[in-house]
Amino acid sequence: MTILGIETSCDETAVAVLDIKNPNNITVRANIVSSQVKLHAKFGGVVPSLAAREHTKNIRRVFDLALKTAGIRDFKKEVDLIAVTHGPGLGPALLIGIAFAKSVAMIYNKPLIGTNHMEGHVYSNWIEQEEPVKNIFPALNLIVSGGHTELVLMNDFNKYRLVGETMDDAIGEAFDKVARLLGLGYPGGPAISKIAIGGDSARFPLPSPMLKSKNFDFSYSGLKTAVLYLLRDLKEKGAELDEQTKADIAASFQHAATEVLVQKTIRAAKEFEVRTILLSGGVSANKLLRERLEKAAHDNDLKYLQPKMMYTTDNAAMIALAGYFAYRKNKKTAVWRSVDMHANLGF
Ligand code: KG4
Ligand code: ZN
Repeated sequence: MTILGIETSCDETAVAVLDIKNPNNITVRANIVSSQVKLHAKFGGVVPSLAAREHTKNIRRVFDLALKTAGIRDFKKEVDLIAVTHGPGLGPALLIGIAFAKSVAMIYNKPLIGTNHMEGHVYSNWIEQEEPVKNIFPALNLIVSGGHTELVLMNDFNKYRLVGETMDDAIGEAFDKVARLLGLGYPGGPAISKIAIGGDSARFPLPSPMLKSKNFDFSYSGLKTAVLYLLRDLKEKGAELDEQTKADIAASFQHAATEVLVQKTIRAAKEFEVRTILLSGGVSANKLLRERLEKAAHDNDLKYLQPKMMYTTDNAAMIALAGYFAYRKNKKTAVWRSVDMHANLGF
C-alpha cells in the first residue's frame, strides 16, 4: 500500500510517501523535512507557538513537494492511507499536522490513522537497512530523544511494554542544557558531540546518575547540575573557559551520559532475555552512543539495530511506517473524525 505520513510534533514539518508491501519491502518515494531549528536557536529551545506558526506556513509547500518527489499525480487513485502524528509532542504544533491531515483525508475520502511519534522512532529501524530486519523479537528498544529516554520491550509488532524511563530530564534535553551552559547554542546534541571529539573525557570525571540503581529508570538533572557546579568552581578558581576546557567538559559529559544508557540497556536485555537491542530517537545520531551500544550488544551476543543517520531525527517516513502497523492492528479507527491530539501519549 501507498502511505502518506505527516509529522509536526516538534520543530520539523515533514511529509513522506512510502510504498509498503510488507515490513521487509519498504520503498521511500519521498521524505521531505523542513527544519525550523535556526528560528528556535535564537531562543535556546523550541517555542511551541512559533513552531505552530511555522508549520502553518510550511505544511502545504512540504506536502506538495513530497507528492511531486514521489510522482503522485492522482492522489485519490494512488494513495491508500494517511498517517499523522497525534502525540506525544507540543500541543499547538501537533494540531497543525492533524488539522491538515484531516482536511486531506476528508477531501479525498481516505482513511486517516493517528500515529504515536515514539513508535515512529522505533520503526525507523526498518527503513533502508542494509539487511532485512527479521527474527528480532523479543526486542528491547532504547529510545532517546529531546523529550524522552525510554526502555521499551517489544514482543511483536504493536506489542510494547515500558520497562524504564527518565525521572526528570530526557537525555536530549540534558545535551541541550549543558550545551547552553557551555555557550554552544541549540540544538546541543550535535554541538556537544562535535567539540567532544577533541576533548579528554578523563580530565573532569562526572557522575553517571542511577548507574547503580536496581531499576531501569534514568535521571539526568543531577548530571546537568554537576556540570553547572564544575563551571562555577572553575570560575571561582579564576580558570579560563578556553576551547580545550570546553571540549574536555563536553567529552566528560557525553561519556557519563552515554555510559548509564549502555549499561542499563544491556542489563535490561539480559533480565528480559531479549534477542535484539534497537536504538532510536534524535540522540541515536550520537556517534559515541552508537559505537558503544553496538559493541556492548555484540559482546553480549545480542543482535543490534540502529537507524540510518538520516532517520535518527524527526521525519515523516517513520510516521508512515508506524501508521502502517497501527492500521494493520485497528482499521476501524482510521477515519478522520476519530483522530484527536494526545500531547502526552505514552506506550
Ligand atoms: O527525536 P528528536 O529529533 O526530537 C524529539 O522528538 O525530541 O530529538 C531531538 C534531540 C535534541 O535534544 C538534540 O540535541 C538531540 O536529539 N540530538 C543529539 C544529537 N543529534 C541530535 N544528541 C546527542 N548527540 C547528537 N549527535
Ligand atoms: Zn522525535
